[in-house]
Amino acid sequence: MLARGSSSVASRYVTLAGEMGYERLALVAAAAAMVVMSGVAAWGSPSPSPCMYIFGDSLVDNGNNNNMLSLARANYQPYGIDFHEGPPGRFTNGRTMVDFLSDMLGLRPPLVPPYATARPSDLPRGLNFASGASGILPETGNNLGGHYPLSEQVDNFRDAVSDMGNTSAFRGNTTKVTEHLGRCIFYVGMGSNDYLNNYFMPDYYDTAERYTPRDYAALLLQGYADQLAELYALGARKFVVAGVGQIGCIPYELARMNNDNQPDTPSSVANEDISISINLGGGNGGRSTSSTGANPTAGATGGYCNETINSAIAIYNKGLLAMVKRFNNNNNNGRGSQQQQMRGARFVFLDTVQSGRDVAANAAAHGFTVLDRGCCGVGRNNGQITCLPLQRPCDDRSKYMFWDAFHPTEAANRIYAAKAFGSNNTAEVYPINVSQLAAV
Ligand SMILES: *[C@@H]1O[C@H](CO)[C@@H](O)[C@H](O)[C@H]1NC(C)=O
Ligand SMILES: *[C@@H]1O[C@H](CO)[C@@H](O)[C@H](O)[C@H]1NC(C)=O
Ligand SMILES: *[C@@H]1O[C@H](CO)[C@@H](O)[C@H](O)[C@H]1NC(C)=O
Ligand SMILES: *[C@@H]1O[C@H](CO)[C@@H](O)[C@H](O)[C@H]1NC(C)=O
Ligand SMILES: *[C@@H]1O[C@H](CO)[C@@H](O)[C@H](O)[C@H]1NC(C)=O
Repeated sequence: MLARGSSSVASRYVTLAGEMGYERLALVAAAAAMVVMSGVAAWGSPSPSPCMYIFGDSLVDNGNNNNMLSLARANYQPYGIDFHEGPPGRFTNGRTMVDFLSDMLGLRPPLVPPYATARPSDLPRGLNFASGASGILPETGNNLGGHYPLSEQVDNFRDAVSDMGNTSAFRGNTTKVTEHLGRCIFYVGMGSNDYLNNYFMPDYYDTAERYTPRDYAALLLQGYADQLAELYALGARKFVVAGVGQIGCIPYELARMNNDNQPDTPSSVANEDISISINLGGGNGGRSTSSTGANPTAGATGGYCNETINSAIAIYNKGLLAMVKRFNNNNNNGRGSQQQQMRGARFVFLDTVQSGRDVAANAAAHGFTVLDRGCCGVGRNNGQITCLPLQRPCDDRSKYMFWDAFHPTEAANRIYAAKAFGSNNTAEVYPINVSQLAAV
């Protein structure tokens, strides 16, 4: 009989051995070792106790907004039409980018549950705090209703850490909690809504009047750095920070372009503010009439992109990359108290613009034939109104880069995750890939 009550693991093994005989125990042990190994063997490098915490917006939200009074919800058909692994709430047809990433990291079961419905036993393995419509600034996304801004996502994480510390696995040992969190991946993807549902929504927000794109990016990055420091203080050490994608090229913005196939005329926008990228097709990259000095952005979608938006994003992404470099450097030189910040932490930057361009440039190889329209939506580019309840989506989701006016399809998410996890191109994932980050 198995010892009951206060039996230690060792005494259970002795009891088991007595019952089963030592040879059988050895087999059991070997089988257990194989289960442990199988999570890592495919990638060659061990990923110590895979666990992942996720912060972000609708690109990675997996149902945290389901019970909120919000327009930013995706718990209705046809959202999730290709998702059969749990409750609805993802802003795409199937898996999100982080769903693929947690799978690649070896989490079993592969998906990280949403904070809104998590059980205490879920806490050590990982939680998803992401919330559609959210941004770095607290007011971002208020035009859409309820959501958790980044600072509230971090507050929710703090509560979860406290709960986790009180479970039997940790018994209030904060050292043990911190050690555990230090081994986990912290994915943070923020900022898209600070542009889409704030800066470039002048009817609701006055930020564009108050800040130049450069000052606005600085404001966002300051708020971002503060929240990353909060996560660090709670024990996070392995960060994956995603840049903002080319939102000037998403179907929503393409649908709002002033002219269908012609660059904007300077009449409505000052010359120095506007620039238009001309994609020559077939992945030749873009030729830009940019007068802003920003890198010409290849039309990821095979048409014109809104370069006013893309150049604002480029400033933000450049600042974010610089921030990541600065935080990583703090490990090497410990001069000055400011340099002590985030000591021992590692940051990986995902260049979502670069990855998106690469996917568009190699669209055919990935099986994509439609790059500028949502699979589900209404109006120009299927981007004027986003995918409506019970609307019929396109038949072959695997041929579309975009699921709706804003969000990639599962097929595109799978590629973005594979790049983050295993790309050896530092233009896409810097300075190391997520697979390497997990292994350090
Ligand atoms: C966990 O324990 C701390 C004290 O160690 C306490 O302040 C906190 O309220 C506890 N949380 C729960 C959920 O019991
Ligand atoms: C807390 O956990 C750490 C690391 O696992 C361990 O070294 C330490 O002895 C524990 N403290 C107590 C009071 O159990
Ligand atoms: C690009 O977006 C900005 C901000 O929404 C807008 O003012 C501008 O008219 C757009 N450009 C074009 C060509 O439509
Ligand atoms: C990650 O990056 C390293 C270094 O560039 C590369 O060798 C490796 O193949 C990449 N992918 C994985 C899954 O480790
Ligand atoms: C990077 O990976 C690609 C395949 O994804 C491979 O062709 C290339 O040789 C690799 N480069 C380096 C430097 O490892």
